[in-house]
Amino acid sequence: MAKHIGILTAGGDSPGLNAAIRAIGKSAVSRDDKQNIRVIGFKDGFRGLMENRTIRLEGEILSNILTLGGTILGTSRDKPHKMPVGGQLMDMTDVMVENYHRHHLDALVCIGGGGTQKNAYRLAKKGINIITLPKTIDNDVAGTDYTFGFNTAMEIATRAMDRLHSTAHSHHRIIVVEVMGHNTGWIALGAGIASGADVILIPEIPYDINKISGAIRHRLHRGKNFSIVAVAEGALSARDREEYDKLRQERERAKAKKNIQKLDKIRKKMADFSRRRATNTLRLSKLLEQLTGLETRLTILGHLQRGGTPSAFDRALATQLGAACTCAIREEKFGVMVAIQNNQTVLVPLKEIIGKRKNVPLDHAWIESVQRVGVSLGM
Ligand code: F6P
Repeated sequence: MAKHIGILTAGGDSPGLNAAIRAIGKSAVSRDDKQNIRVIGFKDGFRGLMENRTIRLEGEILSNILTLGGTILGTSRDKPHKMPVGGQLMDMTDVMVENYHRHHLDALVCIGGGGTQKNAYRLAKKGINIITLPKTIDNDVAGTDYTFGFNTAMEIATRAMDRLHSTAHSHHRIIVVEVMGHNTGWIALGAGIASGADVILIPEIPYDINKISGAIRHRLHRGKNFSIVAVAEGALSARDREEYDKLRQERERAKAKKNIQKLDKIRKKMADFSRRRATNTLRLSKLLEQLTGLETRLTILGHLQRGGTPSAFDRALATQLGAACTCAIREEKFGVMVAIQNNQTVLVPLKEIIGKRKNVPLDHAWIESVQRVGVSLGM
């Protein structure tokens, strides 16, 4: 029977993390004292596990955090097998395993996105009882219909675009809005639909700038002299997508042949590509101004989408998954992610989702519906 568990939050923060911590902590307390589980938190993700920095998660510390954004535990993007230590990257998984045993833990709960699932699995392979929860505003974790944080980010982006709509309308401008989402378009698509964006660009559908300007000009002909263009940060033009895919294939070939010189060259080219990519949306908005003759402004929502209080949906989801996590620990079900599929809580084996990303499927109902209402997807 589990008596002691640890929790850490890793990767980018996300609204709903505290709701999940609270749910685990509160459901660890039982009416029967003998069934109580003591919970500790490791600070700042895997780094805190390595440095053995902990806090007790009980009583007052779990009160008043349901609505709080961020994570009371702190987080970091550190990876157990590539930890920056004394100016070097070191594999610190064994130290983490040692600290797990130092606290006589029966399970470690790792709350995070795709990267965290991978890192947690690395520790599971070292014999630790791991259980994970899926959080990220990007909604890109495989094996779950939703990650907590996504709904809040979509809501924030929607509200922002609602506001941009009225100013775009008054000034007869194009407003290009860049939202987060890493390499997926869930936030752009969801918020784009909800706010009535005229163009939605997502990484899953490479775009053609002429098709976008065509759609905006078509609106002009119909007397609509403003447009809102919602762009996922990872969206790429068809040409850039082709270049990127080619570089990735070359990298894989060089890796297979162990051609270090070639690998170095390709890595440099990929780094150049990423630098250019960071200003893609700016270049896109300038081009649209040239091609349409409409004054264009760019708004990048950035980390606004990750901050602040979680939506009701995310609080409920995080509580559902957190409470189910404690249940699974009591039943000694490990090496799994507690997920939501078709409104049911399910336990998904980590090995089934590691290294997979949940893209927006091209036959997703949201894609079909935006096309039906005449939104351009830039293709
Ligand atoms: O994964 C969440 C996310 O917000 C992505 O949407 C974004 O690309 C990235 O994190 C930003 O990371 P950071 O907070 O490290 O700048």
